[in-house]
Amino acid sequence: MNLVIAVDGPTASGKGTIARGLAAHYGLSHLDTGLLYRAVGRQVALTGGDPDDPLDAERATAFPAILLDDPFLRDEAVGALASRVSVHKGVRAALLQRQRDFARQPGGAVLDGRDIGTVVAPDATVKLFVTASVEARAARRHAEMLRRGQDIPLETIRADLAARDARDRGRAEAPLVEAVDAILLDNSDLDARQSLAEAIRLVDAALARHGVRPD
Ligand code: DC
Repeated sequence: MNLVIAVDGPTASGKGTIARGLAAHYGLSHLDTGLLYRAVGRQVALTGGDPDDPLDAERATAFPAILLDDPFLRDEAVGALASRVSVHKGVRAALLQRQRDFARQPGGAVLDGRDIGTVVAPDATVKLFVTASVEARAARRHAEMLRRGQDIPLETIRADLAARDARDRGRAEAPLVEAVDAILLDNSDLDARQSLAEAIRLVDAALARHGVRPD
């Protein structure tokens, strides 16, 4: 059986770290789907397009592959652009097949994003929905930005996270929402190591329920 783990959740919930850790633990390939949307947002900016214009945004889905290695993709500003381009139906459609192909690869996969358990891989073996309070997520993002040499006021980060949550949850196309069969992991009070340990425990328990034994 192809083990596919879907990890969804809001910005700065730690889902990326958990997804990478799960992939290493179970020996699966990992795709950070947010990076694809970030590349589209960055490409729109680089080509002078308007992220809120559906045609400009859709055109940017033909970004060069090398853009995925661009260190600026992790910037807050690019995250906000990604959230804006990701509301467009054409953008989501253009990125969908690539994500589905990744999920179906032999050997299994872990994908993290916003709509993995609901749209990209609704048949995933296990679905986790990772979340934390806005305060906890803002504090983490603030610390992460400081490590990268960017001192952005905590309140600015908090407001940006809240705006992105609202946009990602409120959009018509594939909004951020817990899949009905997702397992909730609230890691507001956990550090990264504890959070991964809890995710592994939850996945192991779900696999045992499904009668699946990871190799
Ligand atoms: O996970 P992230 O912060 O890198 O994602 C950036 C934005 O991309 C997010 O605010 C919404 C969008 N996104 C999406 O719409 N669907 C996904 N599967 C992943 C990200």
